[in-house]
Amino acid sequence: MGADVAQTLEGGLTVWLQGNLGAGKTTLVRGLLKALGHAGKVKSPTYTLVEPYVISGLYLYHFDLYRFVDPEEWEAAGFRDYFNSQSVCLVEWPEKAAELMPGPDLEITLNPSGTGRSASLVARTEIGKRCLERFSQ
Ligand SMILES: Nc1ncnc2c1ncn2[C@@H]1O[C@H](COP(=O)(O)OP(=O)(O)OP(=O)(O)O)[C@@H](O)[C@H]1O
Ligand SMILES: [Mg+2]
Repeated sequence: MGADVAQTLEGGLTVWLQGNLGAGKTTLVRGLLKALGHAGKVKSPTYTLVEPYVISGLYLYHFDLYRFVDPEEWEAAGFRDYFNSQSVCLVEWPEKAAELMPGPDLEITLNPSGTGRSASLVARTEIGKRCLERFSQ
C-alpha cells in the first residue's frame, strides 16, 4: 500500500496517518519511501519528531508527534515552514499538534484486521481528492 500511495504524491500534500500504537503507520511510510527509491533505513522519528527526505523530486517530511508536548517548540523548531507548497508531510499522531498545523489533505486510518491491517482513506481537500483518484486507478 505504501508503494501505491507513493505513486499519488505531489508537492503541497499533507497526509495524516491515524491509528493506535502499533497500527502500522511507520511501516506504511517505510513502504512508501522504499517505493520512491530510498535505500537506507527509515527511522521512526519518535524522539526527533521529524525525519526529512529528499527523494524522487520531493521534499518529504515524516513526523511522529507522539511525544510532542510544547507548542513553543513548534515555532522554535521551524516546523511551520515544513508545511509548504513544495513539500509532502506525512504525520503520525497529528492530534498531538492539530491546532498548530494546517489540516490534512488526506487522512489514512489503519486498524488491525486479522494478522494484517485495514486502511481507510479520506480526502479532505482538492489536492487530497486528486491523490485519491490516482490511488484508485
Ligand atoms: N500491514 C501489516 N501487517 C502486519 N503487520 C504489520 C503491518 N503493518 C505493521 N505491522 C507490524 O506492526 C508493528 C507496529 O508497526 P508500526 O511501528 O509501523 O506501527 P505505528 O503505527 O507506527 O506505531 P506507533 O504509533 O508506535 O508509531 C510492527 O511490528 C510491524 O511490523
Ligand atoms: Mg510509528
